[in-house]
Amino acid sequence: MKQIHIDNIKCLDKAAEAFAEAIGDYKVIAFYGSMGAGKTTFITALCRYFGVNDDVCSPTFTIVNEYLADSVGRIYHFDFYRINGLREAVDIGFDEYLYSGNLCLIEWPEKVEELLPEDCLIVRIEPQSDDSRVLTIENI
Ligand SMILES: Nc1ncnc2c1ncn2[C@@H]1O[C@H](COP(=O)(O)OP(=O)(O)O)[C@@H](O)[C@H]1O
Ligand SMILES: [Mg+2]
Repeated sequence: MKQIHIDNIKCLDKAAEAFAEAIGDYKVIAFYGSMGAGKTTFITALCRYFGVNDDVCSPTFTIVNEYLADSVGRIYHFDFYRINGLREAVDIGFDEYLYSGNLCLIEWPEKVEELLPEDCLIVRIEPQSDDSRVLTIENI
């Protein structure tokens, strides 16, 4: 288990760098955390760190956004908050994204838990009473 403390928004880039250095070769990363915990915000910082120049936003209406990063190539960003059942994830070809070898960053992974690969990195983001965030990487 590894924890990264994000004291405020200004610390995001440093936190993203520490995170990127910690994750090694993991490609599929599940971000657990309640609404407003900071999943999209952190994923945005992480994509910025990897050299994504496009706008990173929550793929609320599309399930998946695709970005091109200078350092790691394609990144897929999923938000499963609004899906109704696993079928929808299967239908967009979630499996092909997962096994593409590209980085997959997943919000609301609890909605597709049955489909996640075994070598999925489990991350929890928890807001603290002082509005800072604690990010816990559970399986490294
Ligand atoms: N590390 C942080 N420190 C302080 N505020 C944050 C942090 N991360 C996110 N926030 C704030 O929390 C709110 C929700 O963030 P968001 O990333 O949209 O959450 P989620 O995707 O988990 O629902 C935003 O207003 C954002 O500015
Ligand atoms: Mg979000």
